Parts: sequence; C-alpha cells; structure tokens
Amino acid sequence: PDTRAVAPLLLSWYDRHHRSFPWRVPPAEGQRGLRAQPYHVWLSEVMLQQTTVQAVMPYFERFRTLWPRVEDLAAAETEDVMKAWAGLGYYARARNLKKCAEAVARDHGGRFPDTEEGLRALPGIGDYTAAAVAAIAFDRPSAVVDGNVERVVSRLFRVEESLPAAKREFRALTASITPKERPGDFAQAMMDLGSTICTPRRPVCALCPLNGHCLAYRTGAEIETYPRKAPK
Ligand code: ADE
Repeated sequence: PDTRAVAPLLLSWYDRHHRSFPWRVPPAEGQRGLRAQPYHVWLSEVMLQQTTVQAVMPYFERFRTLWPRVEDLAAAETEDVMKAWAGLGYYARARNLKKCAEAVARDHGGRFPDTEEGLRALPGIGDYTAAAVAAIAFDRPSAVVDGNVERVVSRLFRVEESLPAAKREFRALTASITPKERPGDFAQAMMDLGSTICTPRRPVCALCPLNGHCLAYRTGAEIETYPRKAPK
C-alpha cells in the first residue's frame, strides 16, 4: 500500500466514526489544541490492558472521581486502590499503578514524562503503554501496537510471518504509516478500525476506509486468516 495515503484516509474516517469514551477528547476538540490529561490517558491505558472498554468505563470514572490528580492516587491507601480495582483482574497492574503514581508525584513533580523513553522508565509502563501515552497525551509520533493494530497491519500489508515472530515487523510497519500530524488520533483510529471494521471474524471490508490500499483485500486473500498464527 501507499504508506502516505493511509493516515489521511483513516483520520477522516475517525473524524466521522470515532467511538466516544470518557478518557478521550473528541477529534474536533483535539484539532483546536485540546488534549486528554496524561494522567487520564495513562490510567485508561493501564486499565485497558487485557480488559474490554465496556468493563473499563465505570472503573475509569470511579478512579477519576476518587483520585482527580496523580498526586491524589499517589497519596491514597494501597488498600483503597486495591478495593476500587477489585473486579478488573490482574492485580499486579493495580500495585504497579500505585507505584507509578508515587514515582510521578515524588520524582517528577506530578507531571508525566513527555517522551517514550521517560515513560518507559516508570514502574509498570512497558513498550505499549509508553508509546500510547506518548502519542495520545503528548502528540509524539510513536508506533502504538496492540492486538487490534496487529490485525489491521497484518491485513493491510498481507504479512505472512506469524505471531509472535511478526511483532518486530508489525512495529516497523505501524511506524511506516504513523503520521507526524495527529499521531494520537491515528493510534486510536487504528484501535477503532480494528474493533469495529477490521474484526477477527467477518471483517466489514466494504465499509473500510483503507480497502483501496489493503493488500489482503485487494488480492482476494482469506482475510480472516491474518494475522497468521504459528502452527501448534
Ligand atoms: N484500547 C487500548 N487503548 C484504547 C483506547 N485509547 N481507546 C480504545 N480502546 C483502547
């Protein structure tokens, strides 16, 4: 596909079809310079690892109400944080959440670092979360690759390598289509496309803004067979 053509098509689709979530600033407001708080972006991205958006929404709202700033979360009793987390699962995430809030409050004056490297140095922040917060909160053109994005990219470029070996390739291909303008919207647009159009089963290619560029679609491949999986 023409790598430079992808982002404008996807962003104009996102302007019309983006999903609304409490942790998002709608794209129209983003284009007037408004951005979600780094604290909210980070909190939502940690919650969204291994948990669906539907399940996360009420938890996100509760955390934001109970602890409006990262310093409030840092100062909270660990037991209260664990209680508020109950039901989300993967409790190591909640412990790391608290540790990260403490590090931001103590070592960074309550401000999240604004680069991928700086973010990755914080407790519980790995490659994915660092890239997502850098792009969505700070407009850095980092390659944000989650499961949805891997699926979209594997089809767009018809990647024959299977997971997990294909991870490096997915990252490089995602970087090749990530724009310098609106990288945070682009990352979230890829996620929305993966959850609503480019789905694991029965993707709705007729409605996809990228169908003219999608190698799997244009070559008549069996689209559902991407991303390839290693034989068991
Ligand atoms: N999954 C992970 N991060 C997300 C986001 N920012 N919006 C929607 N789904 C997500």
